[in-house]
Amino acid sequence: MSSNRILLIIGGGIAAYKSLELIRALAKRGVATRCILTNGGSHFVTPLSVSALSGDKCYGDLFSLDDEAEMGHIELSRSADLVVVCPATADLLAKAAGGHANDLASTTLMATDKPVLMVPAMNVRMWEHAATQRNVATLRGDGVDVMEPDTGTMACGEFGPGRLPEVDVIADRIEASLERLTGPKPLKGRHALLTAGPTREPLDPVRYLSNHSSGKQGYAIARALADLGARVTLVSGPVALPAPRGVDVVQVETGRQMLAACEAALPADVFISVAAVADWRPSSPADRKLKLKDEGKGPPALSLTENPDILLTISGMAESRPELVIGFAAETDMVEENAQRKRARKGCDWIVANDVSGDVMGGSENEIALVTEAGVENWPRMGKDAVARQLAERIARKFSGPGKQKIAAE
Ligand code: C5P
Repeated sequence: MSSNRILLIIGGGIAAYKSLELIRALAKRGVATRCILTNGGSHFVTPLSVSALSGDKCYGDLFSLDDEAEMGHIELSRSADLVVVCPATADLLAKAAGGHANDLASTTLMATDKPVLMVPAMNVRMWEHAATQRNVATLRGDGVDVMEPDTGTMACGEFGPGRLPEVDVIADRIEASLERLTGPKPLKGRHALLTAGPTREPLDPVRYLSNHSSGKQGYAIARALADLGARVTLVSGPVALPAPRGVDVVQVETGRQMLAACEAALPADVFISVAAVADWRPSSPADRKLKLKDEGKGPPALSLTENPDILLTISGMAESRPELVIGFAAETDMVEENAQRKRARKGCDWIVANDVSGDVMGGSENEIALVTEAGVENWPRMGKDAVARQLAERIARKFSGPGKQKIAAE
């Protein structure tokens, strides 16, 4: 596989001229670009300029015997580490979301086995149109990284979101993606086991007890660990998130199912308990729907039983305890003190403590304190992805101490 090479699909919008600047900016950063110019794109920039700047042939026609003889469209779709669509027009987004394959660009997007980054640029009304927003949501659900456009004055004179982000910002995003894809893999040969999301504890066949956990933080950590080369098993309660690329997801509903799935996935080198496991479950769920007023008796009494504590159970395992066990502490007050106490009580090595009195559950940002054997570190407020990356790097550092290298079992 080549390293630090992207395949750039240039769509037909006024922002297409900026793709030429992007090719130059990437070349300065040591990233080679091979280009596909759509028919629409060729009305804004010429194959000759694209080819001169990229130093490579510019591909355009799915049915060209010359192009196909040189590099077939399947081979082309896999010839880079990352596929970037810039500018991604409303039409290209729609085609990709719908799975169309009627020209070289759309066929390549269907055939590729590489990650895809889309950089939309279009008129504000087109961007805000329900169809475009639906297509963007579909693509993100499919694991495509779709950048948010900038807000400002557009070429057509209107104002709003839809402008292509600055070329340097796009180049930064591409570089970060390539770094993740082709960067060092310090966790290669390690198995990471995580739980994420809420659990659902049935009350009767149609009702359950649960909580507001979105699963975002756990899914981000799973992705970050996979990016560093770990084999990742993510035992997940019901959430509305797509399975992260390269992660084995085991779907469960109840706390007891979550524990059983974790036990089945052991041995692991690291266990991270991110899930908001329900502390209690209804003692004896009814096997038929409870009626509002059962024979005039009024509301039924709710009798609860304690759920197994997954973190405590895995921390206390004699034989198969993972080398590093990490718990989460969602607190609304006295965050650090409670986290210290939780670390001792649960027998885990680290606690990631966060204040959930705001909008952390479901939000995209998190402010955490990491409690380890060495003390407490307060991390600044940052996105859940950034928290995940930093935590994954800390885990990798823990495993890369002297004498800690494990030979990858390949
Ligand atoms: O005691 P508390 O529920 O606040 O502890 C939170 C930590 O314990 C989290 O890491 C959570 O995933 C884990 N936990 C668990 N099983 C439970 C309850 C909590 O693994 N039944």
